[in-house]
Amino acid sequence: MRSEKVIEIKNLRISYLTRRGPVSAVDNVSFSIMKEETLGLVGESGCGKTSIGNSILKILPKNSSIEGKILFEEKNLVELGEKEMQKIRGLKISMIFQDPMTSLNPIMKLRDHFVETIKTHKPEISEDKAEEMAEEAFKAVGIEPSRLKDYPFQLSGGMRQRAMIALALVLNPKFVIADEPTTSLDVIVQAQILELLKNLKEKYKMSIMLITHDLGVVAEMADRIGVMYAGNLVEEGLSEKIYYEPKHPYTEALLKSIPNTKPEDKKLIYIPGNLPDLINPPTGCRFSPRCPKAMKICFEEEPPIFEVDGSKVKCWLYKGAEIVENERVNQS
Ligand SMILES: Nc1ncnc2c1ncn2[C@@H]1O[C@H](COP(=O)(O)OP(=O)(O)OP(=O)(O)O)[C@@H](O)[C@H]1O
Ligand code: SF4
Ligand SMILES: [Mg+2]
Repeated sequence: MRSEKVIEIKNLRISYLTRRGPVSAVDNVSFSIMKEETLGLVGESGCGKTSIGNSILKILPKNSSIEGKILFEEKNLVELGEKEMQKIRGLKISMIFQDPMTSLNPIMKLRDHFVETIKTHKPEISEDKAEEMAEEAFKAVGIEPSRLKDYPFQLSGGMRQRAMIALALVLNPKFVIADEPTTSLDVIVQAQILELLKNLKEKYKMSIMLITHDLGVVAEMADRIGVMYAGNLVEEGLSEKIYYEPKHPYTEALLKSIPNTKPEDKKLIYIPGNLPDLINPPTGCRFSPRCPKAMKICFEEEPPIFEVDGSKVKCWLYKGAEIVENERVNQS
């Protein structure tokens, strides 16, 4: 079931041109997502998660530049023109954003969002049929179909997020990017939305890239986890491995920063120090200025990615282990 790759990202680099110089937001990142798999992408704010998500849909801002390959259905999306991307966005790959109000039109009824999305990709579908599909999609996310006549602002935050999920899934895409889909919601609604996403994934047999800064959330939801730090994918592996046997010092620090649920020990542990300046990233390992295990080589040479116990780890602690092919070259 999971042997087929839905998307393959190879040696992806994204930078943003600013007045101070280019910001190296994503630096030589490679990973794949398999059919019907959920990959969680985690890391602190500013480590490049959204940049990766936006690069797949080609909605990066104008000051960005991109290198590498994003392979989807035998095409390299990096090279695809806007016209061809329009045929993919919303139909084959769709996105669930953190704040539905930024992607829903406030002066358009919810029904019209659905009709427009469906008719844009499938003009042969009648308006009545499109409305029927919208009703089905609302039912699937637990909203009464009569609410389709409402405007987005008439729904509660949690319901709006459900409506956006319904809109993202109405054409049954094979790949969905969910960028912090629950961050703006309270804990109970957050749990309901995550449960809903999990069920819909099973029902529609899609693959998901779930972006979040919360390792606890992805551990629940994802089959595999990719940990980002300062533009690098520093560790990637099965969720249980990442959660119970982290290999990279940054993953260990992230896990310690999850609030302890025991009431007698509700202390938040923060990772000391800040993300490096991505205009002038540190030489060697980008985590070296904050790493409690840093060695001399860490400040001098960038670590390759090592294969360790089934996980991929970008850290000199594993020197001597097998190096993952292609990670040290710019392009493959
Ligand atoms: N348009 C832009 N121009 C310049 N720099 C940018 C731009 N967009 C993002 N960046 C920088 O790129 C880096 C990665 O940003 P990105 O939004 O991808 O991170 P993120 O992991 O999604 O963070 P968050 O958790 O806060 O959403 C950050 O240093 C950010 O400041
Ligand atoms: S390469 Fe060195 S500095 Fe970087 S995470 Fe590993 S031990 Fe720490
Ligand atoms: Mg983001």
